Amino acid sequence: MLADNRITQLFNINYPIIQAGMIWASGWRLASAVSNAGGLGLIGAGSMYPEVLKEHLDKCKAATDRPFGVNLPLLYPDIDQHIKHIIEAEVPIVFTSAGNPKTWTKTLKEAGIKVVHVVSSAKFALKSQDAGVDAVVAEGFEAGGHNGREETTTLCLIPSVRASIEIPLIAAGGIGTGRGMYAAMALGAEGVQIGSRFVCSEEASSHMAFKKAIMDAQEGDTQLSLKKHTPVRLLKNKFYNEVALAESEGASLATLEQLLGRARAKKGMFEGDIEEGELEIGQISSMINDILPAAAIVDQIWKEFNQAVAQPFFKA
Ligand SMILES: Cc1cc2nc3c(=O)[nH]c(=O)nc-3n(C[C@H](O)[C@H](O)[C@H](O)COP(=O)(O)O)c2cc1C
Repeated sequence: MLADNRITQLFNINYPIIQAGMIWASGWRLASAVSNAGGLGLIGAGSMYPEVLKEHLDKCKAATDRPFGVNLPLLYPDIDQHIKHIIEAEVPIVFTSAGNPKTWTKTLKEAGIKVVHVVSSAKFALKSQDAGVDAVVAEGFEAGGHNGREETTTLCLIPSVRASIEIPLIAAGGIGTGRGMYAAMALGAEGVQIGSRFVCSEEASSHMAFKKAIMDAQEGDTQLSLKKHTPVRLLKNKFYNEVALAESEGASLATLEQLLGRARAKKGMFEGDIEEGELEIGQISSMINDILPAAAIVDQIWKEFNQAVAQPFFKA
């Protein structure tokens, strides 16, 4: 069964399943595989220099005829160069995050691009709507990667955002199964953005050692860290322990910056140093036990979602 709702119509896709843009994990291989499977694949531009992004855009266009998008964290330098490449490559969809949606939405929309902004509160969802975005991703506390300070869980965030905005709403954070998707849709979402589950896909560029660490992860093995700096959910390891100790001792921002270094995320997620590197992953990692082709993940989630929809809650 194909889906037909505001999200599938907005992006011209078969299923309202979006693979999150993720630094060091979602390049052209993963994005094109998800788009070819009928979802929406996103290239994570946050870990790419502009010329690297251009290469990924060219390769993604060669690998799929379906719509795909780019996730652009607005805090990074070179953003105007990224945007230039995105417009020149005629990318149809951009998901912006980590910044003010007012800054770039107009430019992107004037270039005919659909714009979605990622938020972690109803207040910023409303600001995004006012800035003219086409849809909002509301990302809860469970999510891997950077996160809101307020610690609002997906279960509480989605209905709250739903009540605040009129435009289409995509839920993120803790969704890795069809049942999770069903729950998010029941709360008022019209689509789901899934990150952690796709880090453990064959096409993800995340290092195999990182993928194995995710499969080993148990409940409680991730924690929202660096709340004084930029909050991020991490898998606990030596690096996490060093950060936690520094924070508990009241480390200054400068000390935390120094501890983070420049390339900790690359070291952990891309190069596979699972002790010294930063490993961004969500709470749902405790339920991820295999590495599958991205198309199989889309298929599995969509099938399970439909089974859940068809299943009666109460038996007579
Ligand atoms: C390894 C990793 C890297 C991420 N990088 C980014 C990023 O570059 N930009 C962004 O907006 N979100 C990023 N995120 C957050 C995801 O886009 C997504 O919202 C989140 O993973 C959803 O929650 P889940 O992990 O529970 O599925 C990242 C998440 C992970 C796990």
